[in-house]
Amino acid sequence: MRQLVRETQLNAGQLVLPLFARSGRKLRHPIAAMPGVFQLSPDELVREAARAHEAGVPAVLIFGIPDRKDARASGAYAANGIVQQAVRLLKKELPQLLVVTDICLCEYMEHGHCGLVQRDKDGARILNDPTLKLLARTAASHVQAGADIIAPSDMMDGRVRAIREELDRLGFTEIPIMAYAAKFASAFYGPFREAAESTPKFGDRRSYQMDPANAAEALREVALDIQEGADIVMVKPALAYLDIVQRVKEEFGYPTAAYAVSAEYSMVKAAAANGWIDERAVTLESLLSMRRAGADIIITYAAADVARWLKGS
Ligand code: PBG
Repeated sequence: MRQLVRETQLNAGQLVLPLFARSGRKLRHPIAAMPGVFQLSPDELVREAARAHEAGVPAVLIFGIPDRKDARASGAYAANGIVQQAVRLLKKELPQLLVVTDICLCEYMEHGHCGLVQRDKDGARILNDPTLKLLARTAASHVQAGADIIAPSDMMDGRVRAIREELDRLGFTEIPIMAYAAKFASAFYGPFREAAESTPKFGDRRSYQMDPANAAEALREVALDIQEGADIVMVKPALAYLDIVQRVKEEFGYPTAAYAVSAEYSMVKAAAANGWIDERAVTLESLLSMRRAGADIIITYAAADVARWLKGS
C-alpha cells in the first residue's frame, strides 16, 4: 500500500559510483577520510566496478591520479594516461558498464588548479581560454579510450562548447556531456582533495567555482552550459544545495544529476563509526531527498552499498 502511493523512488539504476585510478597492480590505497574508498590500480578498479555493477549500479565516474604532475597537465591527455588505461580495461572487462570520465586538470597540475596558471608579481591568474584546448584534448583522448559519457568539472567558461566541438570534429557526435553546471566553491570537497591529491598549492578555487550564496547565478550557469551543448546538468554538492537541484529541474527539465560529494560521505561514515547515527537509514534518506528535489541521477561514493541495501541484502 505504502509503495503504491509513494511519490518518489530510489533505485540502484539511478546511481553512479566515483572511482579513483592510479598506476600499479593489486593496489588498494585507502583514503583516510573516506572509509571504504580507495585509490585503485586498474585491475582493482575493474574488480570494484564489477562488484558495484553486479549489485545494480549502471555507471562509474573515473578520476585519475597521475604518477607525475606538471604545469601543462600532460598526464590528463596522454594516450596512455591513467584514466585512459583504466577506461580501456573497464570497457574490455565490463562492456555493459557505463563509463563516465571526469574532465579536469587539477589532479595533473603541479599547482593543483583546474586550469593553466600564469604567475606574476601580483600573484597568479587562471588562463581560461588556453585551458579550453587542453580540456577538449583530454575529453577526446578519454573517448578514444572508450569513455561513454564526458563530465567536465573544471568550471572554466566555454568548456562545454569547446569539448562538444572537438568531439563532433572527431566524429564522436553521440557522446553525451554531463556538465558540472552548478559547481559551488565548497568546503565539502575537502576529503576528495586528499583522495585525488589535488589540493591547490596556493590560492583557492573561488575565481572559477561559484559562491554558495548564489542561486540565480547557478541557474544562469546551467542555462549557459545547456546552450553550449550539455546533455545532462549537474549540481554539486547535493545535500546542502537541494534548492538548486529543484530549481534546475523545474526551470530546464533537463536530465539532472546531483553529486553527493566526499564530505557528505565522510560525515555519515564518521558519525556512524561512533554509533551516533544509523548509516544505512541516514544514507537512504539523504539520497531519497535528492530524488524528491528532482535529481534523475545521483553520484555517490556509497553507490555499491546503497544498491545492495535496496536489494535487501
Ligand atoms: C575537480 C573536482 C572536485 C570534485 C570533483 N571534481 C574537487 C574540487 O573542485 O576541488 C569534488 C568531489 C568530491 O568532493 O567528492 N576535479
